[in-house]
This record gives sequence, structure tokens and C-alpha cells, in this order.
Amino acid sequence: MFLQAASALAAAPALPAPANGKIQAGVIGCGARSHELMQHLMSTGGATITAVSDAYTGRMERAVDRVGKQARKVPHYKELIADKSIDAVVIASPDHWHKQMVLEAIAAGKDVYCEKPLTYTSAEGVEIVAAAKAAERIVQVGSQGVSSVTQQKAKEMIRAGKLGKVTLIRAAYNRNTASGAWIYPIPPDASPQTVNWDAFLGPAPKRPFSLERFFRWRCYADYSGGIATDLFVHLCTTIHFLMDAKAPSKVMAMGQLYRWKESRDVPDTLNAVLEYPEGFAVNLSSTFNNQTSAEGGFQILGTEGSITLGGDLTFYPEEAYEDNRWIVESWPKRLEEAYWNDPKVRAAELIGGHKPKLVEGAQKVHATGQDATVTHMAAWLDSIRTRKAHWEDAAAGHRAAACAHMVNRSVAQRRMVEWDFARDDMKA
Ligand SMILES: NC(=O)c1ccc[n+]([C@@H]2O[C@H](COP(=O)([O-])OP(=O)(O)OC[C@H]3O[C@@H](n4cnc5c(N)ncnc54)[C@H](O)[C@@H]3O)[C@@H](O)[C@H]2O)c1
Repeated sequence: MFLQAASALAAAPALPAPANGKIQAGVIGCGARSHELMQHLMSTGGATITAVSDAYTGRMERAVDRVGKQARKVPHYKELIADKSIDAVVIASPDHWHKQMVLEAIAAGKDVYCEKPLTYTSAEGVEIVAAAKAAERIVQVGSQGVSSVTQQKAKEMIRAGKLGKVTLIRAAYNRNTASGAWIYPIPPDASPQTVNWDAFLGPAPKRPFSLERFFRWRCYADYSGGIATDLFVHLCTTIHFLMDAKAPSKVMAMGQLYRWKESRDVPDTLNAVLEYPEGFAVNLSSTFNNQTSAEGGFQILGTEGSITLGGDLTFYPEEAYEDNRWIVESWPKRLEEAYWNDPKVRAAELIGGHKPKLVEGAQKVHATGQDATVTHMAAWLDSIRTRKAHWEDAAAGHRAAACAHMVNRSVAQRRMVEWDFARDDMKA
């Protein structure tokens, strides 16, 4: 596939992106997320959406309502990719389609914004990275949190050493609703007349027509990696961004389907441990059965301070004081007295309520400015013009998605899964 793609590109030179005028964009997959993306892309003012493609007619209809009549409805995405007037494509189809659509778009000389997870399997990521590089196409992945003010600030603080040495990150997504568990309402006009079932299935196993599978595809392993590829991938993208890390060397995970048994074949509860060669570990956790703690968030734990990151960022200095009272009270009295008279001890220990000052106080940074997706898409348009890749390029997208695939393999095979840094892929 990749060799074909690269040679097709060599035969047909890539379309140059307009230096000044608006970028002509096509959108493949016009579902829930895509409608947000289209809105945000338009609000950047840097692109015109001239074609939209979807496997359900209702979504194309709404897409044209949203973006304007200059957008052509293209039921078959290959026709959109073949349109030479289109410079760049946004891909927001279900996950099992991403690789094929991204590779075909690259082969046609287009730049790509692909929603997370970039891939459905880890090996697909290796193929996409190679194809994007060979064809010199911009491939940006849509885990937009890294473009938020708070994640940018967190990275700056970690780099500046404000947290000391970070050795543990806890990150979670917790939900307790049917919509949170991806049981979305199905549009009442959905039928074999309005839904192109074969177009949806594409590379997935053949199955009888099912509106549940079509509209709630995240619940089925044929099209999605469940919690890991839907949610953990966001967490891993951010962690790699904050920590300047590429991939975990080792991953262990366990998952169970405790509750939503009638609606899915993927777990509703997932716990994973990831270890990074940079010298830190990560706990990822998700349940769809309780949302007492915030829906999504990070605790970044350093020797001198911590950051909690959800919508807002809060920095807490580490209140870690030596307190050896209970030990020295068992020593001979004269030795205990000498201990407390030592200036070094007095500077470090909690004595009579006196706390030695270790680091500066708490600090809060509110999530401000435009929506992170607008910033993320504006950065994509900049990359198209400057030909300079964004941090979240194909390689970053591949590695974040691969973490999810490692988690799922660990659950399925009940073993530790390792990363091969030389091949930039998970070990078999
Ligand atoms: N970055 C984020 O915060 C974020 C949030 C939600 C979803 N997403 C990602 O966006 C993608 C889409 O998710 P969604 O929630 O919008 O799902 P969705 O089911 O609402 O949308 C997917 C759309 O793709 C269409 N489609 C399926 N096969 C197609 C084909 N062959 N050609 C053209 N269209 C086809 C479907 O008809 C559907 O309208 C997923 O990869 C998901 O992980 C990202």
C-alpha cells in the first residue's frame, strides 16, 4: 500500500498549498466530532470547506447547512480525495478507516488533519509515518489538548524544573452516563436507504446491517479499541508532550466489562501502568460506572511540586518535611537533645508546628483564550503554508495511539507488552 502510494505521488507532483489565499479543504466523515471541527476550521478564517463526505446522508445534509452551499456532498470519499481542487482533508471517520483514508490522501498529494487515534493497530502507524515522510505531506493528529493554554503552561513549568523530578503521573477519564458510555441516540431517519453500510464497514469484518454498530461504533472492537483508543490516547498524547517522551518501554493493563454488557464487546473499566525510559511511570484509569472524580484529568507528581490539570491548571508545592520525632524519642535523651540542637535538623524538620519553607506557594492558571481545537486547527493551516510540522505530527499520533494498542494487547494477552524503539513499533 505504502509503495503504491509513494509511487503514485512521484508521478503526480503534490499540489502546492496557496501561499496567501484560503486553503480548500474537504471533510471525510461528518459525524459529531466533525461538526465541531468544521465549525472551528471555519472560525480560523484560513480555509474554505468545499466538499463533505459521509456514509449517512443526514450528516452530509447538516454539514452543508453548517459550512455553506459552496460545499459539495460527496457520498464516496475516494471521489473527494481525487478532487484536485482540494488542498487538504480533515478525516473524522471511525477509527478503523483512518489508515486507509490517510494513506490515500497522502498519495493524492493532500495534507491531512486526522482525528485521534491515528490508527486502529500499531503497525498502521509505522506505515503512515513512512508515507507522510516520503511524500513530504503534513499529517497532524487531532488530540487538541496540547494546544490549550494550560497544557502549554504545564510543559513550561515542568521544563523549568518547578516540580523537581517527575516520576509519577496519574491520569483518568471517568463517566457514568449512557452518552458517556457511547450509547448515542440514533437518528430516526436512519435506514438502509440513508446509511451506506458497506461504506462504513470498509476494511472491517463483514456483518449484517446494524444501526447500533454504525452509530455506536466505539462499543465494538471491530471498529475501535474502546476506552484505550478513545480516551487513553488523549492522555498519552498530553503526557508525551509534557514530558518530551516518545513511548513507554513497558505496559501492563487489565480491563473488564462490568456493567454495559448488552451494548458492547469492549471493557467499561480499564487500568494500565506504563513505564517510560525517561524515568517516570504513568497510571491510566477509566471507569464508565462512576464519575465522582472529574471527567478527565492529570496529576503530575514531582519531588518538589505537583500539577493537577483538568480544564484549569493548579500547581501545588510539595509539603514534604522531615519528621523524625517518633524515631529520636526512642534514643537516649542526651542524643535526642543533641539531634534537635543540630542546625541542619532544625532547618529541615517540622518542629513545634514550624514548617521549613521548601518551595513557593500554590498557583492557579485558568483555561483561557480560544478553544484548543481552534488553535490546533490554525496550527495545522500554518503548517500547510510553512511546511513545518506541528509537534503532534504523524509520529506523535502514531506513538500515542500505540500506547492504547499496547494497553489492549496487554489486557487481551494477560502479559506485559514492550516497545521496540528501533522499529518505533510495539514488540510482537
Ligand atoms: N479530538 C477529540 O476530542 C475527539 C472527540 C470526539 C471524537 N473524536 C474522533 O473523531 C472521529 C469521529 O468520531 P465521532 O464521534 O464524530 O463519530 P461519528 O460516528 O459521530 O462520526 C463518524 C462519521 O463517519 C462516517 N463514516 C463512516 N464510514 C465512512 C466512510 N467510509 N466515508 C465517509 N464517512 C464515513 C459516519 O457516517 C459518521 O457520520 C473518531 O476517530 C473519534 O475518535 C475526537
